[in-house]
Amino acid sequence: MTINNDNDCNEIFDEIIKSRHTTRFFKDEFPSKENIEDILNAGMLAPYAAQAVGDNEDFRRFFVFKNGGKSMEIAGNLMHKKAEEGLNHFKRMVTEKPFLKGKVQPFMEKLQMIVDNGVLGVGTAPYFVIVAELRGVPPVEQESIAHCLENMWLKATELDLGFGLVSLTSQMVEDEEFLKLLDIPKGKYGINGCAIGYPAKQFPNTPRPNTKKSTTWLN
Ligand SMILES: Cc1cc2nc3c(=O)[nH]c(=O)nc-3n(C[C@H](O)[C@H](O)[C@H](O)COP(=O)(O)O)c2cc1C
Repeated sequence: MTINNDNDCNEIFDEIIKSRHTTRFFKDEFPSKENIEDILNAGMLAPYAAQAVGDNEDFRRFFVFKNGGKSMEIAGNLMHKKAEEGLNHFKRMVTEKPFLKGKVQPFMEKLQMIVDNGVLGVGTAPYFVIVAELRGVPPVEQESIAHCLENMWLKATELDLGFGLVSLTSQMVEDEEFLKLLDIPKGKYGINGCAIGYPAKQFPNTPRPNTKKSTTWLN
């Protein structure tokens, strides 16, 4: 199949790419199930590491948590506990090796924020969606998930929905209780997550460096 290559298409595509940004605060209102399904379909169309996972139809799975539901509450609590454990781990590490403090400080601050306020996007957005990708050889599931999430993000942008990554999700991949919630076996999939809903307020897009300055053309 070829796509219509006219200027309008090009401009719309550029507009969607430029409009994509992180949303961290959401309205309570639920987007329609159709909108969420469209976003998941966009994710399913993203590339996957065919050579790594082989001939397996089940290479990508989605788990949709709805705010107010029991599963969202359980996921939020388990993730909060994980952030607390992570923070304590880094605190011990910095006590033993103070020279590492500068390097880990920003991440510790992020964990502290989660411990104080809960996981942004899990219980604070209408939907929390987990993408699970089959772990293959080589184990490139997080790369595949990133492609999937970007497709979902662009589709959400087109639908005027806010989207935020919840990367703490990937840390839950070894957590027995969390995996029980998803009903997937330990070690089979890599996971990551995102929050979706209507943005509570619009933020200006984060500036980017000049691409020309960041590019080296080689002979
Ligand atoms: C690998 C990766 C993980 C990220 N994890 C989080 C996250 O857990 N929480 C969050 O609020 N933003 C997260 N972000 C979003 C970035 O902070 C954001 O993309 C960056 O600040 C640029 O802003 P923009 O998305 O609005 O262009 C993540 C981004 C990437 C690429």
